[in-house]
Amino acid sequence: MKMSRNKMFITGKRWLSATMLVLFLSSAFTIFAQDGEALFKSQCATCHQPHRDGTGPKLFEVRQKWENGGAKEGSLNQWVRNWQVAAANDPYAAEVANWAPTAMSLFPSLTDDDINAIFDYVDAQPLPGAASAGGGADMAAGATEVRQEDNLGWVWIVMAIVFVVIILSVGGVRRQLANLNAPEGQEPMTYGEEINSWIWRNRKVVGVAVLVGVIAVIVTLFQGLYTIGVVTSYQPSQPIEFPHDVHAGVNGIDCKYCHNSVEKSKSAGIPTTNVCMNCHKQVQGDDDKEIAQISKIYKSAGFSPEGGGQYSGETENLVWNKVHWLPDHVYFNHSQHVKVGGIDCKQCHGDMTKQKELPRVVPVEELNEVEGNIQLTKPTLTMGWCIECHHETGVSSGPMTNKGGYYDEIHRRLLENDKSLYEKYLEDGKVTVSELGGWECAKCHY
Ligand code: HEC
Ligand code: HEC
Ligand code: HEC
Ligand code: HEC
Ligand code: HEC
Ligand code: HEC
Repeated sequence: MKMSRNKMFITGKRWLSATMLVLFLSSAFTIFAQDGEALFKSQCATCHQPHRDGTGPKLFEVRQKWENGGAKEGSLNQWVRNWQVAAANDPYAAEVANWAPTAMSLFPSLTDDDINAIFDYVDAQPLPGAASAGGGADMAAGATEVRQEDNLGWVWIVMAIVFVVIILSVGGVRRQLANLNAPEGQEPMTYGEEINSWIWRNRKVVGVAVLVGVIAVIVTLFQGLYTIGVVTSYQPSQPIEFPHDVHAGVNGIDCKYCHNSVEKSKSAGIPTTNVCMNCHKQVQGDDDKEIAQISKIYKSAGFSPEGGGQYSGETENLVWNKVHWLPDHVYFNHSQHVKVGGIDCKQCHGDMTKQKELPRVVPVEELNEVEGNIQLTKPTLTMGWCIECHHETGVSSGPMTNKGGYYDEIHRRLLENDKSLYEKYLEDGKVTVSELGGWECAKCHY
């Protein structure tokens, strides 16, 4: 029985590295697995279901539908990327655009392969109620379709269990062998002692394994952080089809007239009905569509425009759906960015003066196309987006911050007094937000 000690170690090591490899690959794999299901659930499922109409029409076999309807070739994929372009080029697409007053989001970054993967996934979804007829079954199937699931957690739990079992069984066999060999009269080691001594004897392997494990966890976590909980292009419906282009664009109303706390506080604020009434008491709408929308303001304000206009006193709150939101543990302050940092609204929200549809979370690719915007790569509203900009942007650029050459003066003094510090911060000619602490966790997290 002399052989086993060394052999066991080697088997132990092999198992260990094999497990680590699997753990690592499984975490790496999730980065690249961009399949139709994931795309559909993250980008489309807020509005579409395979078999039931929702905010958008059902998408089952939509490729067939467009072909049969006489749509131009390539027009469907163009629709998904930018429905406005498709509607302008193809009469069939223009007809589809009339389906609902709500407009579809734009997905300019989806490739033909992505789009086909989405449709393949949708077409593979079984018809609800195919087995059992009736509205009930239909409802149930519809309800489960939009549910989001995340299998990653399970992969990790299973891997962890496998890992522990392997460690224990390797340890267990060894222990029995060791106890068999133990000299007469010596207390057999307890399980805990055995594990401790095994770890001590293999401290290099264990050390490396723990390190690899920790790195794998951090990598996965960071990938998660860049995208967690964010739906780019998110565009909820609203109680009134409020057009930003008509107000902020054509009529040139300042953003601050309605979002009046944007320079003073953390949040920008959404105007109350009274603010709308300042103008809409007079502006009652020219056509049926406008009158229908504006009458909703009157209903909320308890106003009837007939006979010069009267308030009934019965008001009703308009409940606008929040478009941009960050999780509760994140602190974001508008005045800090708009007033102190001198950053324009369009940097983060796109050009709202041209926004015909309802507001939405504008994808970073579109933000980059807006003239004068800082070019970023991480998805809008993710942590990666915030910190990337803090790394790119100099603080002295804002109109408030460099008043009277305040920063220029600091630069001059720093250069005189501490050249090495000056070089550290200013080799790129600017003090970035990150250099002043804009990467500190506590600045953004409660
Ligand atoms: C914000 C809601 C919304 C999102 C998100 C959305 N759509 Fe749409 N989609 C619509 C609406 C609404 C229509 C109907 C057209 C209209 O009225 O403008 C539509 C229409 C369509 C059509 C034409 C359907 C038909 O019956 O001809 C296709 C195809 C489509 N969407 C695909 C997608 C795909 C793929 C995604 C995800 C990448 C997606 N949509 C995401 C709202 C949305
Ligand atoms: C006449 C009033 C008015 C003006 C002017 C106006 N807005 Fe708005 N804005 C609103 C209302 C009302 C909402 C909420 C309804 C909605 O989301 O459609 C809103 C919503 C928004 C949202 C989405 C808020 C969310 O829920 O995340 C953004 C972003 C926004 N406005 C930016 C701007 C910018 C930038 C300007 C100037 C270019 C501007 N607005 C001018 C009234 C106005
Ligand atoms: C500073 C004046 C002003 C304020 C404040 C204002 N509006 Fe308007 N609104 C206008 C003007 C001007 C028009 C254009 C009317 C037209 O084209 O006939 C308009 C048009 C509209 C329309 C019809 C747009 C269309 O073309 O379909 C809606 C809906 C509307 N406003 C909603 C609102 C809401 C909701 C608020 C409050 C959050 C609001 N407005 C605040 C001036 C204002
Ligand atoms: C640096 C990026 C950035 C800039 C610049 C910016 N916003 Fe925002 N805005 C955000 C973020 C992030 C949110 C979501 C905040 C939250 O959920 O706490 C938001 C939310 C909003 C909302 C929804 C209501 C609220 O306060 O949460 C409105 C309205 C709005 N912004 C308007 C504006 C206007 C108007 C400007 C320009 C004067 C502007 N924003 C400039 C990033 C920005
Ligand atoms: C477009 C670039 C940009 C984006 C995107 C951006 N920021 Fe900033 N942020 C700035 C600038 C510039 C300043 C510095 C303002 C100043 O003091 O001159 C700043 C400052 C801050 C500060 C204060 C830092 C300090 O040292 O006091 C916080 C907190 C902050 N940002 C949070 C956020 C969060 C959270 C997000 C994402 C939701 C975000 N920012 C997105 C540009 C940006
Ligand atoms: C410039 C602002 C900023 C800084 C600095 C920052 N974060 Fe974040 N963080 C965010 C935002 C915004 C989100 C939400 C992103 C989302 O929902 O995808 C977030 C999300 C997170 C989450 C995910 C929580 C969840 O929603 O599940 C964790 C964990 C986290 N941050 C940890 C950190 C740590 C640790 C640091 C310091 C090394 C840090 N953050 C620094 C802005 C910041």
